[in-house]
Amino acid sequence: MLRVASCAALLLLLRKALGLPWFQSVGAVLVFYLGSGGWRFLKIFYKTIGRDAWGALTLLRVKFQVKKHLREKNTIPVIFKECVKRHPNKTALIFEGTGATWTFRELDEFSNAVANFLHAEGYRSGDVIGLFMENCNEYVGFWLGMAKIGVEAALINFNLRLDALEHCFSVSNSKAVIFGKEMSQAMLDVHSLMGKSVRLYCLGECDLKTVPLGTEFLNYLLQSASRLPPKDPGREFTDKLFYIYTSGTTGLPKAAIVVHSRYFRMAALVYYGFGMHSDDVVYDCLPLYHSAGNIVGVGQCLLNGLTIVIKKKFSASRFWDDCAKYNCTIVQYIGEICRYLLNQPVREAESQHRVRMAIGNGLRPAIWKEFTSRFRIPQIAEFYGATECNCSLGNFDNHVGSCGFNSRILPFVYPIRLMKVNEDTMELIRSPQGLCISCKPGEPGQLVGRIIQSDPLRRFDGYVNESATNKKIARNVFKQGDMAYLTGDVLVMDELGYMYFRDRTGDTFRWKGENVSTTEVEGTLSRLLGQADVVVYGVEVPGTEGRAGMAAIADPSGNCDLEKFGRDLRKTLPVYAHPVFLRILPEVNKTGTYKFQKTDMRKEGFNPYLLKDSLYVLDSQKGRYIPLNEDVYNRIQQGKLKL
Ligand SMILES: *[C@@H]1O[C@H](CO)[C@@H](O)[C@H](O)[C@H]1NC(C)=O
Ligand SMILES: *[C@@H]1O[C@H](CO)[C@@H](O)[C@H](O)[C@H]1NC(C)=O
Ligand SMILES: *[C@@H]1O[C@H](CO)[C@@H](O)[C@H](O)[C@H]1NC(C)=O
Ligand SMILES: *[C@@H]1O[C@H](CO)[C@@H](O)[C@H](O)[C@H]1NC(C)=O
Ligand SMILES: *[C@@H]1O[C@H](CO)[C@@H](O)[C@H](O)[C@H]1NC(C)=O
Ligand SMILES: *[C@@H]1O[C@H](CO)[C@@H](O)[C@H](O)[C@H]1NC(C)=O
Repeated sequence: MLRVASCAALLLLLRKALGLPWFQSVGAVLVFYLGSGGWRFLKIFYKTIGRDAWGALTLLRVKFQVKKHLREKNTIPVIFKECVKRHPNKTALIFEGTGATWTFRELDEFSNAVANFLHAEGYRSGDVIGLFMENCNEYVGFWLGMAKIGVEAALINFNLRLDALEHCFSVSNSKAVIFGKEMSQAMLDVHSLMGKSVRLYCLGECDLKTVPLGTEFLNYLLQSASRLPPKDPGREFTDKLFYIYTSGTTGLPKAAIVVHSRYFRMAALVYYGFGMHSDDVVYDCLPLYHSAGNIVGVGQCLLNGLTIVIKKKFSASRFWDDCAKYNCTIVQYIGEICRYLLNQPVREAESQHRVRMAIGNGLRPAIWKEFTSRFRIPQIAEFYGATECNCSLGNFDNHVGSCGFNSRILPFVYPIRLMKVNEDTMELIRSPQGLCISCKPGEPGQLVGRIIQSDPLRRFDGYVNESATNKKIARNVFKQGDMAYLTGDVLVMDELGYMYFRDRTGDTFRWKGENVSTTEVEGTLSRLLGQADVVVYGVEVPGTEGRAGMAAIADPSGNCDLEKFGRDLRKTLPVYAHPVFLRILPEVNKTGTYKFQKTDMRKEGFNPYLLKDSLYVLDSQKGRYIPLNEDVYNRIQQGKLKL
């Protein structure tokens, strides 16, 4: 900025004071500019102007459409209706599990039936209904049907059980729960914890004895419901569509609000930014209770008329066969998936598909090139963006290893920035004026996004829990009196403005593609061990993605029963949340404010050469903990022991 200003001043000086002709003045200024380091800027300009222009065009297109929908008070169901009108007989959804193929008209009619049925049952605009089932076509039909009468779905992680499950129903104020028959046992278990007024509906045929008393059966009820469009509930683009739960840093899952405009914006940014077409076929093997599966994937069907192949669950061995069978052109991934695919033996289908793009989140730079060359995927569409945050980034130009960019030419157009943090405490570092300090290229910093509530592209709709919302917001960040959203993620930017993921901050780590909340695991483990002090953190293991869970357990008496602990664990926590490593020590150090000193332990890791405490590792084959001696440690380091 300074350089440009001094160039302008120099130009004025040369022209006015010395009366030099234009070409001489400009020439002199150019020499001054390049000499003062402007050469580097010109190089950056030349290398990134195309990318930036594309990004700007994408933002403008989405912004323009959001404005239009706001003006016309459209909603996701209204936009979907346009798709149905355009091509009623085109395939909308294919469920790989049963081969069920639904056209746009069929999806429309199913969701009408859902809407009419629920309306007749007394549910009205603003009510919340929990949706608890595995991936299937009906899943989409249910929440879409609810949206048609203004009822909001709470999309619940089907891995949850007992307390965490009940928490999700209750924080969203669900008046009813629609569950798949595969969730019957979980519903039986949680039923006694739930409010008595919550009504239960089951999808699928099953024995009366295997579901909670009073459950009604939808297969039969929906058949008699009208398939005509329900009456418009008068909802708008800024109204709530559904809730998605994020496993945040504060223990139990938090319900994040997704409004119609946010759903639209996320799906549209991906569609335009990555250059999707309406004849693309998307392979979606991610859970539909998450934004990646339900917005980035399914959104392309509802808003842009793409065909989506829904897979019940990711399968590394079936992946390419499915893609070939259904002529998929786009696949979705999360970081782990790519590694699992690379670990598979070479098979024929992996080179006989038509996939031209892989879109997702968390592909490691280390396996990026191997992934694209082995499976012959021309484009990796890596993006960054939490459900509840508006600071999305996208790698629009297939730049290896990066999860997006910010313009170096006009950085202020998109109000995101990397801010310096104390990497241990993750607190923002402030200047003497009290503002945050932007990072220079190469310096890691926390990604923050400025909050401008009046702009629907920049809105932050927050969590259901207000105090959780406030925790994610910092004040006086860019300038005095402003607000910014804290992503809690540390990224680093290069000279050209490409961003790279650095680390997850704080108390959540990622393992097997799932976010593990250490607070939650700590709570559960502590309960299983008679309220012992337990500290959980993620440790890096060579050759694996994310961080493996490690639990430091205080056992002053030294009689911890690991056999029983292992058995109890399997009953209470999803597999990805089981600690891979245990460190049994007499006492866990605490700070003056009774906080565990996690940072040091995380640094110490699971190295038996350094630590004197007893260490154990979870043998995934046998499903129990075995002592972690130096031999086992070496095998882990060499990638010979599967975790
Ligand atoms: C869709 O299919 C139905 C019958 O299956 C047919 O009556 C209708 O004309 C078709 N619509 C279009 C737009 O092709
Ligand atoms: C995939 O494409 C082939 C060739 O174009 C076609 O024969 C086949 O029916 C398609 N499969 C599906 C599931 O659409
Ligand atoms: C992030 O969300 C806040 C909350 O509304 C918003 O004001 C801010 O502008 C957003 N930032 C970005 C980069 O989208
Ligand atoms: C809301 O969040 C805060 C901290 O994030 C937590 O202490 C509180 O228990 C939460 N309230 C509910 C109702 O979940
Ligand atoms: C994990 O957290 C990240 C960042 O908050 C989010 O983008 C992602 O969707 C989460 N994934 C799961 C499986 O919860
Ligand atoms: C606990 O604190 C003491 C004294 O600061 C230190 O020597 C010891 O290594 C710490 N223990 C652990 C497990 O970090």
